Amino acid sequence: MDIPYEMIFKRKSFRRFDESLALSGEELQDIERQVARLIPLEDGIRVNYRIIPRKQTSSRRGEYCLLMYSEIKEHYLLNAGYLLEQMDLYLAAQDIGACWYGMGKPEVTHEAGLDFVIMLAFGKGRPEEFRKDYTRSRRKDLSVIWKGDSLMEIAEVARYAPSSCNSQPWRVYCDPHRIQVFRATGIRSIMPASRVPYYNSIDMGIFLFFLETCLAHTGHSFERTLFPDEGSRADPIPVASYLMPEG
Ligand SMILES: Cc1cc2nc3c(=O)[nH]c(=O)nc-3n(C[C@H](O)[C@H](O)[C@H](O)COP(=O)(O)O)c2cc1C
Repeated sequence: MDIPYEMIFKRKSFRRFDESLALSGEELQDIERQVARLIPLEDGIRVNYRIIPRKQTSSRRGEYCLLMYSEIKEHYLLNAGYLLEQMDLYLAAQDIGACWYGMGKPEVTHEAGLDFVIMLAFGKGRPEEFRKDYTRSRRKDLSVIWKGDSLMEIAEVARYAPSSCNSQPWRVYCDPHRIQVFRATGIRSIMPASRVPYYNSIDMGIFLFFLETCLAHTGHSFERTLFPDEGSRADPIPVASYLMPEG
């Protein structure tokens, strides 16, 4: 699936949808086709998707919701973030507004042995409603999230990844041939504390997709290693490491 890098700058969380606009049958079919082409972070985690009218969920936004169901297995939350972020960006390219909706619940939460994980609410937007100046979106200072002075052009873009409550749990240590990605703990937000690891793990999958899109765009090849879920008591928690060949 070819997702334009430029969509990183165009996407935003759509919270107001013009109810006079509607998706066409062809647009919905195209979305179904794209969903089947999403690239997983890790093979071997069974997932499934449903596109249903928003009114069949607790979401109050969008015309439809894309629901994701997954097998509960190591890295399934990272995988969910990585997969659905591809749709968030793809939809922006079609002038379809989307919003990750952590608060949303569908009627069916278990299906064919898979559990509901997260949804994206979406609906037709107008081109002018998308982000015009990404540098104005609120994000943490680079010095908080990125240590080391390598690959700053990548840091400058990857940091615009969306996250639950804009919590931006990613912390990166970067040297010229290795990027180490961690998840910060102790994130304070309006989410119940017990749910923070869940949503922040999805956020980390989103960030990995942004990071890899930036690496590919700048011609960096890499070898990714994922760390075991909650595999250490370290703070921040190691999530992934990228090795780049000496060039
Ligand atoms: C996993 C996840 C869950 C989210 N849940 C909600 C939500 O329930 N309601 C909402 O309005 N926004 C939600 N958001 C959107 C974030 O608030 C938003 O991505 C963040 O504030 C950054 O803004 P931007 O997406 O416009 O760049 C969620 C985002 C993520 C990644």
